[in-house]
Amino acid sequence: MKILITGSTGQLGIELLNQLERIKKKESLTIINPSKEDLDLTNSIKCEKYIEDINPDILINLAAFTAVDNAEIESESARQINALALRSFANVLKKNGGHIIQISTDYVFNGEENKPYQTFHKRNPLGVYGKTKSEGESFLEQILENTNQFTIIRTSWLVSPWRKNFVKTILKKLKEGKENESLKVVSDQIGCITTAKSLSNLIILIIERKIKNICLPSHLHWSSNGSASWYEIAVKIKEISNSINLFASRIDIKPIESFEYKSLCPRPKFSVLDTSLTTKTFGIKNDFWINDLEILLKEIKDINNSAKALN
Ligand SMILES: NC(=O)c1ccc[n+]([C@@H]2O[C@H](COP(=O)([O-])OP(=O)(O)OC[C@H]3O[C@@H](n4cnc5c(N)ncnc54)[C@H](OP(=O)(O)O)[C@@H]3O)[C@@H](O)[C@H]2O)c1
Repeated sequence: MKILITGSTGQLGIELLNQLERIKKKESLTIINPSKEDLDLTNSIKCEKYIEDINPDILINLAAFTAVDNAEIESESARQINALALRSFANVLKKNGGHIIQISTDYVFNGEENKPYQTFHKRNPLGVYGKTKSEGESFLEQILENTNQFTIIRTSWLVSPWRKNFVKTILKKLKEGKENESLKVVSDQIGCITTAKSLSNLIILIIERKIKNICLPSHLHWSSNGSASWYEIAVKIKEISNSINLFASRIDIKPIESFEYKSLCPRPKFSVLDTSLTTKTFGIKNDFWINDLEILLKEIKDINNSAKALN
């Protein structure tokens, strides 16, 4: 089975490539993970040609314009990468066959609900990033309608030991801040983290089902269990880091409201995803967010220790 992965240098891509190692041989997978230069999603014509030439059984699209504030300024690039590339992919897959797993986001919703978003909830994005990701979803739904050729996984607040994400930013600020300084974190946006590890495990379950030709729901949601504000997560990062001896920080973390945090992209106030369809479909359980956070921080500690040992 030929699997093409875009965005393999991103945080989810790095984790997925690591995880795929354990099933690659058993399932006889050929993994193709082109660089941005080899498969540039800003060029629709080249995207079509590349997919035509490779003709993958499964295309896992992890590439995206993910800088949500920059997307407000560079909206054309964001649309090209997050939406129009999906149209190209879907057109080729419709003609030649093959399945696409697309990673989407909680930002396709406007955040005005107060209960977890179900997969069929109407999309109503606030900013350019959410609008372009939403348009990408629509291309798959329209072009690949009734084909069982696509799986959209919406996820939220992705964290990992790799690249840039909220956990790494908070760790850096806690480490580098002076004792009498305080770290201000938004407390009126509620959501849930997702570890790249748990999301990669879900992608692998989908690959295993596809190898057996099993039909799956076209839309899935995935995150850790529970909900929290960015502020509550930051407080837990500090608490767990102290308790596992990752480092000790005396910096005070203070809650602020969204309007006090200057940003270009409007963020949903509430973006918890209902993951019950996914847990039911695959017979799995998602762990409580604090447990997933602790596992991640322990992994970051191990990675830091191995890097120190090598130096
Ligand atoms: N991060 C989150 O909190 C979050 C939340 C919900 C959903 N998601 C979705 O999850 C997926 C993975 O996100 P992530 O956090 O792993 O992203 P990331 O770390 O920002 O990585 C993005 C990847 O896309 C590649 N890329 C960017 N522009 C490209 C282009 N023009 N052509 C080809 N590749 C390009 C990047 O390549 P370079 O390394 O060369 O730049 C990188 O490999 C994305 O679809 C994202 O929308 C993310």
